[in-house]
Amino acid sequence: MDVYLNGVFMPIEEARVPVLDRGFMFGDGVYEVIPVYARRAFRMREHLQRLQHSLDGIRLPNPHTTEEWETILETMIAQLTLDDHYLYLHITRGVAKRDHPFPVPPVPPTVFVMSSPLPHPSAEQVARGVDCITVQDNRWLRCDIKAISLLPNVLMRQASVDAGCGEAILIRDDSFLTEGSASNIFVVKNGVLLAPPKDHLMLPGITYDVILELAAAHGIKAEIRKIMKEELFSADELILTSSTREVMPITSLDGHAIGDGKPGAVFAQLHPLYQTFKKEIMRK
Ligand code: PDD
Repeated sequence: MDVYLNGVFMPIEEARVPVLDRGFMFGDGVYEVIPVYARRAFRMREHLQRLQHSLDGIRLPNPHTTEEWETILETMIAQLTLDDHYLYLHITRGVAKRDHPFPVPPVPPTVFVMSSPLPHPSAEQVARGVDCITVQDNRWLRCDIKAISLLPNVLMRQASVDAGCGEAILIRDDSFLTEGSASNIFVVKNGVLLAPPKDHLMLPGITYDVILELAAAHGIKAEIRKIMKEELFSADELILTSSTREVMPITSLDGHAIGDGKPGAVFAQLHPLYQTFKKEIMRK
């Protein structure tokens, strides 16, 4: 009983969605990724709030209340043998004759939840850091919506794989940083943690918030402002965050070393803080 589809828990092999689903036809849907540590969903309320923001952004009524979502996710967590994993939530506008506008009358949305293993980076991977490339951010102007239509992100991430790298850093208008293809990006300069503002050009990351909270609580100076492309190359450190990769140092960009090419001092502070924070959440 490892996935949830439209009210029913079932083995993934039995989960079927009609080809006329608007997610399949148009990418007409939104999603969430929620890490689970020691059988507790990390920042579940915040993820569900962001899901609501995404649903509002595509004008799709939320099929469940927060309490219903919590019951579905907790039932799923209880059924699994894994302690640590992540939950993937996927909601589409449902199944209807192929036509671009919303179906009239509305049809029931498709609601899907599955669990996947969390890729825990090894100590060596953390010590080595992530090599990145820069790419042009050619997405639409509602990147704050966690939309399932991820083709630009897929192509950008593949460009990083083709270059032997672990993430693509997106530059808007050949000018400023937005985020990674599936992560948020922080810059460190002269001991200050810099982050781009949460606006319509990037996903408001849950891990991004946790990092800024940890910085504030532990005396790491932080500043939220537009970050220009050149600043990435002259940064002392670059740091990547996401629910699945947590906090990782970026050690090279387009083949240039960042700082001395090793994880920096602010990362060395933040990484254990994040791990401790996670463990505290699990004990609660
Ligand atoms: N992606 N920006 C983009 C474009 C993302 O896809 C993600 C996460 C983030 C980081 O957000 P958070 O800290 O809330 O995970 C930023 C998830 C992990 C994914 O698509 O699998």
